Amino acid sequence: MPDEPVPQETKILIVDDTPANLDVLCQSLEPQGYGLSVASNGEAALALAPEIRPDLILLDVMMPGIDGFETCRRLKEMETTREIPIIFLTAKHDTEDIVRGFSLGCVDYIAKPFQYEEVLARIRTHLKLRYLARQLETRNRRLEDLNEMKNSFLGMASHDLRNPLATIQGFSRFLLNKGESLDQTERHRFLSSIHEVCGEMLALMNDLLDLSAIESGKLTLKPVRASFTEMIRSHAETYRVLASEKNLIIHMNLEDLPAFPFDARRLGQVVDNLLSNAVKFSPQGKNLFLGLDRRDSCARFVVRDEGPGLAPEEQARVFGPFEKLSPRPTAGEPSTGLGLAIAKKIVGIHGGTLRVESQKGRGATFICEIPMTGHDALPKGADKIG
Ligand SMILES: Nc1ncnc2c1ncn2[C@@H]1O[C@H](COP(=O)(O)OP(=O)(O)O)[C@@H](O)[C@H]1O
Ligand SMILES: [Mg+2]
Repeated sequence: MPDEPVPQETKILIVDDTPANLDVLCQSLEPQGYGLSVASNGEAALALAPEIRPDLILLDVMMPGIDGFETCRRLKEMETTREIPIIFLTAKHDTEDIVRGFSLGCVDYIAKPFQYEEVLARIRTHLKLRYLARQLETRNRRLEDLNEMKNSFLGMASHDLRNPLATIQGFSRFLLNKGESLDQTERHRFLSSIHEVCGEMLALMNDLLDLSAIESGKLTLKPVRASFTEMIRSHAETYRVLASEKNLIIHMNLEDLPAFPFDARRLGQVVDNLLSNAVKFSPQGKNLFLGLDRRDSCARFVVRDEGPGLAPEEQARVFGPFEKLSPRPTAGEPSTGLGLAIAKKIVGIHGGTLRVESQKGRGATFICEIPMTGHDALPKGADKIG
């Protein structure tokens, strides 16, 4: 195995009752860059090890008081020291002793007198193994977390798909059984309901596909130099009709910014989500304010409403997936709780930020800042989130 550079923090505890042995080991190991601690008996080692948490312990067997075997047994019993690899370094090396050492949990056994190069090679090997084991543990934990997240994701998605599916099933069964006895208007009503929930399901599926593409790093931006101002204006126009159905007035104050490269489809999705939320959660007759200006090298897009607003604990959750909070749609509009999670990630991939400012009962302001430079050459992997 090639020599690895010694990580700065690598600590070794050497336990031996003979000062000369400690000296020799320290003199040989110190130049290798290890942080060394010494203990001259088992009791001292048991007190020191949990405190300094060494990455490896070199342990003599024959010592006054509790011997190396007993010290090893107790170290393996303690939660904080259990995982530390122990190498016995001893003149006591009958097969029986060696087997006993391994059965107590040591990782290696070196006979005295030893060759310094051999000790060093073994130390390096065990440190490397320990490092790899830790890495595996961390990856395992991360995988477990991700798996849990995926399961709860699947659970919520299936739950949200079940209601519209049940509606489709119920209404279509009714049409099949009783369709002939229904008049034109009634049939139309049932078919419209089916059509509407199909739309809800499609929207949810699209959101799920987007989120999954983002999470797996497969969403790549297609930045094209264009007018951010025009993009926002044209999306906002499409919301005028929806807004007027609720007697909401949209006030726009959009600064004409110079063109810069951005993914118009993806940032359009962000604008749509912020606008649709403002419309969806506002009660009748309120005002919506859209603003666009320049902050340093960023385009700053702001959507402010006079709706129910969000309490601080809700603000902390609002960008999480499947978060449907206390503000509910005021005209029965569909809600998946995925829009802001997706929006935040899209903005993040653009190197920007999306945040909310609000006071419960006093409206909400969503602020999105997008850097106006650099999307021509987004760093490789900038599309990987999380
Ligand atoms: N402008 C807003 N005012 C008040 N609450 C909001 C606003 N925007 C979002 N919310 C809350 O945050 C939740 C998540 O929003 P979002 O992720 O866009 O999902 P959806 O719009 O599908 O419900 C909403 O269900 C709502 O409770
Ligand atoms: Mg939304």
